[in-house]
Amino acid sequence: MSDMIRNTRQTQGEVDSMFTDRWSPRAMSPDPISEEQLAMLFEAARWAPSCFNEQPWLFVYATSPVGRAQFTEVLVEKNRRWAGQAPLLLFVLARRTFRHNGKPNRHAVFDAGAAWMSLALQARRLGLYAHGMAGFSQEKAYGLLQLSPEEFEVIAAVAVGRHGDPAELPDDLRQMESPNGRKPREEIAVRFG
Ligand SMILES: Cc1cc2nc3c(=O)[nH]c(=O)nc-3n(C[C@H](O)[C@H](O)[C@H](O)COP(=O)(O)O)c2cc1C
Repeated sequence: MSDMIRNTRQTQGEVDSMFTDRWSPRAMSPDPISEEQLAMLFEAARWAPSCFNEQPWLFVYATSPVGRAQFTEVLVEKNRRWAGQAPLLLFVLARRTFRHNGKPNRHAVFDAGAAWMSLALQARRLGLYAHGMAGFSQEKAYGLLQLSPEEFEVIAAVAVGRHGDPAELPDDLRQMESPNGRKPREEIAVRFG
């Protein structure tokens, strides 16, 4: 971790700014997002590639105060403290088996990951941020969403909204409110042969 490039979006060479403009703020503005924006987020996700074009992802989302309050309940306390503000909360799920033959889809989570990233990049194009969360109760999520764990894997929760005012965050969260760095490129890509 010592050579991690911390708290900076310093890139190793030129890369399209769409990749570095995306980050995961916790200060979420409660401003509602429009139905058009909502549609564009899922439209972007829809075009992700997938094994056998199975499109195993499923996004279950909440925009109403009641729905968002119920989703927030499923999150761990640390996430509840900031994500409850967001105008859009969603869960990313993946169908575990292929529709055409019922066999296990080993790549379902990989494909759902591609779809979520498309949504996150599209969010920035719309002036929004998407912040992924692993911190939630799987058990509560299955109970609330009324979906079968045999059929679907609940992979992550996501909060989406405009960037809010970091001054409104509790102290500990405010200190974390900046884009994270990355490992050096040499550590994540190795040439073979
Ligand atoms: C699958 C996944 C789970 C995450 N879980 C949490 C979480 O529970 N709480 C949180 O505050 N951030 C969470 N994050 C945000 C990561 O900490 C963040 O993406 C990472 O530090 C890189 O920073 P950046 O997105 O700002 O570039 C999660 C991100 C992903 C993709």
